[in-house]
Amino acid sequence: MHVHRKLIIRLLLVWIFLSVLIGAAVFFLEMRKIDAYVAALALEESRDFERAHGRFLNNPDQLHLERLREETREHIKDEHFIAVKLYNRDRELIAEANHPAVRLIEEKISRHRLDITLIDDVHFRKFFGSGGQIFVMVQIPLKTTGQETAGYFEGVYKAAPRTMAEIKNRILLSLLQVVVIIFFTALVIYPIVLSLNRGLIRLTGDLFHANIGMLKVLGGAIAKRDSDTNIHNYRVTIYAVRLAEAAGLQREYIVCLIKGSFLHDVGKIAISDRILLKPGKLTDEEMAIMKTHVRHGVDIVGHYDWLKDAADVVRYHHEKFDGSGYEVGLKGHDIPINARIFAVADVFDALTSRRPYKEPIALETAMRILMESRGSHFDPMLIDVFARIADSLYKEISGADDKLLENRLDGLIDRYFPTGHQKRAPG
Ligand SMILES: [Fe+2]
Repeated sequence: MHVHRKLIIRLLLVWIFLSVLIGAAVFFLEMRKIDAYVAALALEESRDFERAHGRFLNNPDQLHLERLREETREHIKDEHFIAVKLYNRDRELIAEANHPAVRLIEEKISRHRLDITLIDDVHFRKFFGSGGQIFVMVQIPLKTTGQETAGYFEGVYKAAPRTMAEIKNRILLSLLQVVVIIFFTALVIYPIVLSLNRGLIRLTGDLFHANIGMLKVLGGAIAKRDSDTNIHNYRVTIYAVRLAEAAGLQREYIVCLIKGSFLHDVGKIAISDRILLKPGKLTDEEMAIMKTHVRHGVDIVGHYDWLKDAADVVRYHHEKFDGSGYEVGLKGHDIPINARIFAVADVFDALTSRRPYKEPIALETAMRILMESRGSHFDPMLIDVFARIADSLYKEISGADDKLLENRLDGLIDRYFPTGHQKRAPG
């Protein structure tokens, strides 16, 4: 349904855009036609003056002057032009005639005359009356038989109502054609685009599930090294996300937190069994090697773009709030928020879960231990938030079996993993 709506809205927008574009193009072409028509008309009418009066324009006697004035009035009568002026070659007005309709647009005519100059070429300018009526002012040089400039003809043409109606009809007809053509084109391509889109969504979904599967496999691979299942990964991820939600962390950071929680110890793949599985306490040298799992983990997740989001947790999950952690020794809020959140979840799960070498610790004892490290190991704000949710979280998660945990985790993945862009968590 969502895809249908999106597609229809886009097609509608294209439809409107093309209609406006083609409507504007048709209007522009019609205006060009009017220009050409008026220029031809003005040329034709100016020829009359040239032939009859060309050589008298610059030295008319009283008789010719009267005839020129009479002829300008004749030009008004046939309603091609509503204003006609004749100038001599010195650009002095020698005859003019105006239709009564000119009064309504006198101000516009004088405004356009100001920026039109009498030149030795056809020159025209179009403007609109208050009712959308089209006017064209045209100026044409008048020539003698020897092709010398004898004077100038200036006319203001008013498009006849019939011409205006034809223009409107042609624009409407073109728009109607565009609307109908695009409508039928959209009808034809709609199912094709829809089918392609569905295919794309299916492929994106496949890719997403492949990535999630890889996340679980990679997390599970290292879990297999030191325990039987990756249940610790499941629990610690759920704890971390619930703490992040309670602390008000933004969705895009929680996406990074999920990946990081799953892969926090992936670098242990590079640690030898002799050290990783050693039952007793590690020597200083062995501990130094063990600490390199952080660097190895960053190397591993850094090789795949989709996993790079996990780097903050992988790199900094052993840092402590007072700066006494490893392997950088970051302090306070210099430690990325996701790593600070994960540290609480990781230690809480280590305390409250059964391990080959220890029994689970009761909730109250675990919380007391966490509280003792408030401000030293852990971010005090996060510990306070965790204290508020620990009880219900513990009851729901700590004793849950693999199936239930996997369901809970899948629920989180469905909620937080968008198909769009995810940004890196800030430091
Ligand atoms: Fe670790």
